[in-house]
Amino acid sequence: AAGTHVPAIVVGSGYGAAVSALRLGQAGVGTLVLEMGRAWTTPGPDGKVFCDMLNPDRRSMWFRDRTEAPVDGVLFLDLANRPIRRWAGVLDRVQFPGMGVYVGRGVGGGSLVNGGMAVVPDRAYFEQVFPTVDADEMYSTWFPLANRALRVNSIPEPWFEGTDHYRYARLSRTLAGRAGYGTRLLPNVYSFEHMMREERGEAPKSALGTEVLYGNNHGKFSLDKGYLAQAVGTGNVTIAPLHRVTRVTRTATGYAITARQITEDGTLVAEKQLTCDHLFLGAGSLGSTELLLRARETGDLPDLPDEVGEGWGPNGNVMAARNNNLHEPTGFKQSAIPVLAITDPVRDVIAEIAPVPAGIETYVSLYLAITRNPNRGRFTYDPAADRLDLQWTRAQAAPSVAAAKGLLDEVNAANGTTYRYDVFGGGKAFADDFCYHPLGGAVLDRVTDGHGRVRGYPNLYVTDGALVPGSLGVNPFVTITALAERNIARVLADDL
Ligand code: FDA
Repeated sequence: AAGTHVPAIVVGSGYGAAVSALRLGQAGVGTLVLEMGRAWTTPGPDGKVFCDMLNPDRRSMWFRDRTEAPVDGVLFLDLANRPIRRWAGVLDRVQFPGMGVYVGRGVGGGSLVNGGMAVVPDRAYFEQVFPTVDADEMYSTWFPLANRALRVNSIPEPWFEGTDHYRYARLSRTLAGRAGYGTRLLPNVYSFEHMMREERGEAPKSALGTEVLYGNNHGKFSLDKGYLAQAVGTGNVTIAPLHRVTRVTRTATGYAITARQITEDGTLVAEKQLTCDHLFLGAGSLGSTELLLRARETGDLPDLPDEVGEGWGPNGNVMAARNNNLHEPTGFKQSAIPVLAITDPVRDVIAEIAPVPAGIETYVSLYLAITRNPNRGRFTYDPAADRLDLQWTRAQAAPSVAAAKGLLDEVNAANGTTYRYDVFGGGKAFADDFCYHPLGGAVLDRVTDGHGRVRGYPNLYVTDGALVPGSLGVNPFVTITALAERNIARVLADDL
């Protein structure tokens, strides 16, 4: 309804947003969460909420005519990508020149689409990235809290060693070992108890049924099941899906926002004006930065810091594909949830062993490498197109490619194997033109104070991956969650 006032508004419903919504709700603060994607609760005609990777339909992608999965083809043409109907699907690829950024769309944000790997960063690296954050407190209080709240669990090693579904990971470990590299198992928010029951035929298949990327129908403890369900359970939090916030302005006592409500087909239902006392931006690195940049450039919030838009990075993401020898197959049964990473302490790379859940033997090993690339991009705002632009060049990805290639060249040399050039399109073995881990744009202690309060604008906060300056060395959502917990605790104590 036009003119509605609520004490607190949270924009977005990913990790930072969900933490803020729950803690506000528990503190008795009436809170409205506005999320541009849909609530993923109602099954489609096939009885499933999400579609799988092998049979993508309109549920797969955010208003596209064709799916844009990162792996374009393996062995035969166009294994993965299909024509689809334009609809409010769960995965988006926001395309900038030289960089496609994958993000989740829906109540739960990235938690709906991601691989669930829940990794606490190396403490020394965390201290470099966040020199002003009390690391003792993070590692004794906020990381453990995030791990508990997200229900992080670890794969039982005997099962990992025995199951057909992780043969692909064990093979990559063997090949890396021949080159002198070690591996580590990574914790996850996907329930391994559930995955083991899937294998025994006692639970419906999700990770073992090629589900991830377009959502998991079972097994994964995503934010809609955790933080957000608990937030709504407080009785103080309401979630409005299919509401995209387009504008933020100031009122005498707080903030006003404009939100466009659409149907799942994309038809505009209403444009709403809402006011609040406290406004929390949790729309992710791209979404929160866009709202701030637009507000600064159009004069709605003219005094926002110059640093808005700065400090962006893809967390050093590069994907790579290798070809294995015919006598060393990866296995055609592959769990869609990655659990193992090759570690290269010299080059500072962790190469996560990603599945190729094609249902057939492909002899392909796929890696998502996280590298420590110091290069940063920056967002700008194009007023004519009313659009966020990203200043990032392929050349800036070069250190990431070099690090990943250094490691995998040695793996190839030790095993007499080669790269695969048919996986990412464009005939390249290393995909440096897309990422899963967008970070930065409203960096902590630059655009905000040390707890996410936007400088110059009281009661306006950034809660999400926009706070992280471009690189963490590991997958980011545990850190985003822990930082959000730390920040909202301070904000609730001091500002509300
Ligand atoms: P997040 O992106 O989660 O949420 C932002 C939300 O805001 C979205 O729901 C979006 O629709 C909404 N929004 C944006 N603009 C809006 C607007 N104007 N109005 C209303 N709503 C708006 N990380 C990890 O740690 N382990 C992993 O295994 C993986 N794997 C992985 C796989 C894939 C395919 C992807 C795409 C990503 C990952 N990630 C990951 C990354 C992880 O998912 C990501 O870092 C977090 O989701 C980021 O959390 P945020 O809170 O920053 O925003």
